[in-house]
Amino acid sequence: MKMSQKQKTPQMFDRIAVRYDFLNGLISLGQHNIWRKKMARMLPDRTNLAVLDLATGTGDQIITFLKTRKIASIIGLDPSVEMLTIGEGKIAKQFPRSDVTLVEANAGKIPFQNAEFDVVSMSFGIRNVPDVQQVLIETWRVLKPGGRLLILEASTPQNSFFRFFNDLYLTLIVNKLAGLLAGNSEAYSYLNNSIKAFPSGEVFLNKLRTVGFSQVLMKPLMVGSVTIYQADKL
Ligand SMILES: C[S@@+](CC[C@H](N)C(=O)[O-])C[C@H]1O[C@@H](n2cnc3c(N)ncnc32)[C@H](O)[C@@H]1O
Repeated sequence: MKMSQKQKTPQMFDRIAVRYDFLNGLISLGQHNIWRKKMARMLPDRTNLAVLDLATGTGDQIITFLKTRKIASIIGLDPSVEMLTIGEGKIAKQFPRSDVTLVEANAGKIPFQNAEFDVVSMSFGIRNVPDVQQVLIETWRVLKPGGRLLILEASTPQNSFFRFFNDLYLTLIVNKLAGLLAGNSEAYSYLNNSIKAFPSGEVFLNKLRTVGFSQVLMKPLMVGSVTIYQADKL
């Protein structure tokens, strides 16, 4: 396993990196690995896949993908060195001989050639980027024809009853409790606000179509508080 050596970029995720995995389990009510597995089941139905995992953070999506045995190589990309360092340790422990490379970079400017990957994935990352369209364009560029984009992201339930409780949960639990435990309430009020601001559901499917993706579909989970999006580059 390799990790690129670049200049350290100070940012919010660097500050919460050591508590991130614990809080992820707490906020998702222990569900996040189940969601990741569901996304892994949406990998193309073939082996030897070259995968790029954007906003890879502490590497949980990479680990879930490696368990499928469909993967030839994975590159995990993230601007937070602290998150990547934790991911590097976890991956090396569970999959010491896997072909995984971690790269400090921004999803808006992917440092790879056109048409290099069979799959590009992004779990809980797309709502953090300043320019969603730019990331989708970059993703399209680095996917091979026949390649697939898989995105797992928090979303707003369509049903107003569930939306009310989801809002309550985000405000009371995520904002306050996670902020307190993380020792960084700024990071978790940001999380709450970014979830509410993200254009989820049908709006996001249209963004995927605009960039050129085909066969776009979404799989809402947990009454629509989380959604997996799938889009193909034909
Ligand atoms: C909520 S974490 C998700 C991490 C991981 N994918 C997971 O599922 O646990 C969001 C990640 O997005 C990364 N991130 C923030 N801005 C980014 C950008 N412009 N490009 C790529 N990653 C970014 C952060 O550093 C952080 O690791």
